[in-house]
Amino acid sequence: MIDKFLIQQQDFPIERDPGFFETIFALSNGHFGTRGSREEAAFSHELVDEGTFINGFYESELITYGETAFGYAKEHQTIQRVPNGKMQTLIYRDQVLGRDGEILEEERKLDLKKATYERTFIWLAAGVKVRIETRRMASFEDPHLLLIETKLTNLSQAAEPLQFKTCLGPEKTEADQVSDDPRKAQARGNLHYEKLSEHFPLLETQTNRSRLAVVVGKKTTVKDEATEKQLTFDEANQTYEETFSFSLKPEETKVCQSAIYYGDFAPVTAHQAVSPAEIEKQLNQALNRFDNGFEEQAAHMSRFWEASGIELTGDDQLAQGLNFNLFHLYQAAGRDGQTNIAAKGLTGDGYEGHFFWDTEMYMLPFFIYTQPEIARQLLKYRHTILPQARERARELSIEKGAWFAWRTINGHEASAYYPAGTAQVHINGDIAYATQLYYETTKDETFMKAYGLELLIETARFWTSFGFFDEQDAFHITGVTGPDEYTVLVNNNYYTNRMAKNNLEAAFQYADKYWQQDGYQALFDHLEVKEEELAAWKKAAVNMKLLYDPDLKLTLQDEAALERKPWDLTTIPKENFPLLLHYHPVIIYQHQVSKQADTILAEYLFPDTVSIEQQRRDYLYYEKITTHDSSLSRSIFGIMASRLGFQEKAYPYFNSTALMDLTDLQGNTKDGIHAANLGGTWLSMVYGFAGMTVKEDGIHFEPHLPEQWEKLAFSIQYRQERFKVTITQEDVTVEKINK
Ligand code: BGC
Repeated sequence: MIDKFLIQQQDFPIERDPGFFETIFALSNGHFGTRGSREEAAFSHELVDEGTFINGFYESELITYGETAFGYAKEHQTIQRVPNGKMQTLIYRDQVLGRDGEILEEERKLDLKKATYERTFIWLAAGVKVRIETRRMASFEDPHLLLIETKLTNLSQAAEPLQFKTCLGPEKTEADQVSDDPRKAQARGNLHYEKLSEHFPLLETQTNRSRLAVVVGKKTTVKDEATEKQLTFDEANQTYEETFSFSLKPEETKVCQSAIYYGDFAPVTAHQAVSPAEIEKQLNQALNRFDNGFEEQAAHMSRFWEASGIELTGDDQLAQGLNFNLFHLYQAAGRDGQTNIAAKGLTGDGYEGHFFWDTEMYMLPFFIYTQPEIARQLLKYRHTILPQARERARELSIEKGAWFAWRTINGHEASAYYPAGTAQVHINGDIAYATQLYYETTKDETFMKAYGLELLIETARFWTSFGFFDEQDAFHITGVTGPDEYTVLVNNNYYTNRMAKNNLEAAFQYADKYWQQDGYQALFDHLEVKEEELAAWKKAAVNMKLLYDPDLKLTLQDEAALERKPWDLTTIPKENFPLLLHYHPVIIYQHQVSKQADTILAEYLFPDTVSIEQQRRDYLYYEKITTHDSSLSRSIFGIMASRLGFQEKAYPYFNSTALMDLTDLQGNTKDGIHAANLGGTWLSMVYGFAGMTVKEDGIHFEPHLPEQWEKLAFSIQYRQERFKVTITQEDVTVEKINK
């Protein structure tokens, strides 16, 4: 029997990499995240990746190019590991848990309803037998807090003297090794630690170049009078060690509880906003109401599942995959308006903790329709980095508007490989698309006034400066890379042009709407928007070049789409995928081969612009040349299969989407969760199987429920109201529910 809300270690093949479980069992709350490593890992000889990360806390480093050119990105940005508060062990005489003895009957699980990670096992060492039960949670109610509880029960026949040791200090991992895989983190900072307190663990971490500082504190109690406590600081490892000594009678249980505080980072030069005394107070409070913390977490999650869950009846394994994905998606999102969603969430430092278009195009719809407050904060982040995007635009010869970084944390471009980085200018159109979707779904006027309109205008301006009109007045965008990173620096990429057209139309439409409205004049004046400019946006949108081959009756991904060398993907050995790890880019780029959905993604977004027959032809052509080497691909092919009547294809695509990380489909789950695909799961359900489309007259559903499924039910928020949608094989019902 599969429990749809429980992910248990025993359900996986035992040969799975330890890193796989560390990712799967990772906990986060948008502010910080910590991998699902074993508590005693630091005391073992095993190489593990314990990773604890604070969203947006990064170190920078100069990028060294063999050959450089004007305007190349200058600095890496890499999310940093902050002090590990999970480290703890048990000591019996000279035996140390992790290093000595045996671990028996271990069970580990992630409870999606409670948002906790739990583990039980028995430690057998030098004749002592102790049952250890731990649970931990990254609090959603107080995002600075990590809580860990450890229950020790003596299963031996005699009273035993034990020591419980719990630490706070920098993590030691294998991650310091350099790899050839471009998807892994490349730069690691030279961090500096400062001990801030003598009487409780409190450590400041400072980065060297980016000059950021963050404080992490920890307090632990062991519930019993007869416990001796000692706090020391290991200078060599910059680690606080707190040791509790006690004697445990047979069958007796001791409860050890730790609360760890992960602060907000600030520039090194700024005064730390929260004093040590205040941190200690908060930690004491957390310890005093420890069980309440876990109860509140469960209550929080129950509200989450109510508002954002999707009920799938008829396939428990897929339902479990779906729940797991939505849970990790919720965990990943920055909620403070200053941070976003990294490509691996906060579960690993793959892709260096960078924010990509993944957020806007794959993850935001979920938040917009189910957690609009979070969606708003994610878009607000884009607004906060507008100054960097403007600066970048000027640097790269764009007279007006913004050019958003392809990948970034601090707003500056961090993509060292421009053909698959900076050249993906579609990011501007993606941000505009999500801005418009958020506004149209929520009608949040204060957002539009404070952030939305400015984002739409500044992104639109980029296109009129970057592209050009030919002699027949057609508007071209040349020398860019679309989502398909196996085809670079092309002219008139279909997806990019579609997004640009949409961006320009939206800027025109909203600027026109707000032109005479009270309260907007200051913004137009500040941005120096002239009426002629609105007309120019409209003209470029109307005349946007969208390529089509009338002989083949095919929508073209770009001007040279059919000129490249054909490559029969069925002839490529299976072990040569992903191609990026086995072929030089020159070989990949000369071929008709796609890493991910590109033209098909555009047709998924704008279904009314191309006939169904045309979409079917395009689908069959592009499916044949697509490797799905990117995790951003399958969900879109699945949705389109549902829409276009290729039902037999939709199911396997969804299967891969829903179970991508649980089955380690891409082979690199150990580096972190595939966050865009988590969003793709929600898109598959709502836009694919439920067939949701939003038109001028409202929301429509045209379900394509696989015959194996009995029911699909979820709720969405639309313009301040919440609706519950239930789809069965016979029926669709939509009911309004009170929020
Ligand atoms: C994909 C990009 C994506 C990035 C981060 C790459 O493999 O091709 O589209 O933005 O991963 O997830």
